Amino acid sequence: MNIRFARRMASVRPSTIREILKVTQQPDIISFAGGLPAPELFPVSEIKVAAERVLTDNGPQALQYGQTEGYLPLRETFAAETRSRGISCAAEDVLITTGSQQSLDLTARVLLDPGDCILTENPTYLAALQAFQSCEVRFAAVPTDEGGLIPEALPELIEREHPKLLYTIPNFQNPTGVTLRRERRQALYEIAARYGLLILEDDPYGKLRYTGEDIPPVKALDTQGLVIYMSTVSKTVAPGLRTGWVVAPEEIAHKIVICKQAADLHSSSLDQRILHAYFRDFDNQAHVNRIRQAYGERYAQMDQCLRDAMPPEFSWTHPEGGMFLWVTCPESVNSSELMPRALQEKVLFVPGRDFFPDGSGTRYMRLNFSNSSPEKIRTGIARLAGVCAATALV
Ligand SMILES: Cc1ncc(COP(=O)(O)O)c(C=O)c1O
Repeated sequence: MNIRFARRMASVRPSTIREILKVTQQPDIISFAGGLPAPELFPVSEIKVAAERVLTDNGPQALQYGQTEGYLPLRETFAAETRSRGISCAAEDVLITTGSQQSLDLTARVLLDPGDCILTENPTYLAALQAFQSCEVRFAAVPTDEGGLIPEALPELIEREHPKLLYTIPNFQNPTGVTLRRERRQALYEIAARYGLLILEDDPYGKLRYTGEDIPPVKALDTQGLVIYMSTVSKTVAPGLRTGWVVAPEEIAHKIVICKQAADLHSSSLDQRILHAYFRDFDNQAHVNRIRQAYGERYAQMDQCLRDAMPPEFSWTHPEGGMFLWVTCPESVNSSELMPRALQEKVLFVPGRDFFPDGSGTRYMRLNFSNSSPEKIRTGIARLAGVCAATALV
């Protein structure tokens, strides 16, 4: 049967990570591949209590259809969280989504037509690329360094490519772990305001800082309604609850609501109420502090093991938070070709290529440090370093 798929599917690339994750189920494999939080730190007993309270006190409402915009008391909780990050925000400004992935997908659908150009960091979050690709867009890469995207490169790109929006992950970026410097946030906003460029600011990791000082989001500078800000509970509570939120300029928010009606009517009433009861009755900041402590130690362990074991031609980033670091291999190394050898040694990473809109970037590897215990990090990095040393010698 010759199935005539929609044209948009021709431009969406499958996620290598999802394919790799299938292999990670094998028990003796050490995986630095997924972007998974540490499951042993999930607040399971607190969520259990919250779920029981919701079902006992408001069972029928929790199982009923709800508003597309989200459960108002939870919108209030997220508005307060957003304000604590320096952004002026009321409950009515918050739209609850089925995770930030849906925020990305809906925003893409309301703004992007085939052929439109998007500016992205290079590399950038793989599943955001997938969401944008399904709108048949063009990508233009903004040059980046260890301080994030370089604003000085923007005017020429904007004048040449006429982008509709710029997508950025300013805090502990996925995949590099890099943070956009404070003065660059200001410069980025000024340029966006000058050209009327929309900014899509994706901030799932901002709360997971291990060292240094918090930097206010770009949205905190937004006097002209140019920034769409999105965040999620996936890294600070649990990703299985599939709950995120978006704060967008009013006209855009209105269209996102219409698009969400078509996508799923609303996010799960039960999950939203459980989360609301959890935030109301438990101290999530104390929980986030425990995660930060544990991930900070895991990062330090991975960094030290890399220093001890990696051949000198390899270097890596030094993130101040988040869940990933980014390894640069010598130019002669293709990290996709390294994968099968790493798999033989029972260690996994994500090859860099998938994070580049144009498929370049073959000499990079993304390593996740949040999902492995310090012992596993020690063993896994020793295995990986062995594979790298053997490859670099060839
Ligand atoms: C940069 C970025 N944006 C969005 C998401 C998706 O988050 P959620 O689980 O809320 O859909 C992720 C998940 O890893 C991410 O790294």
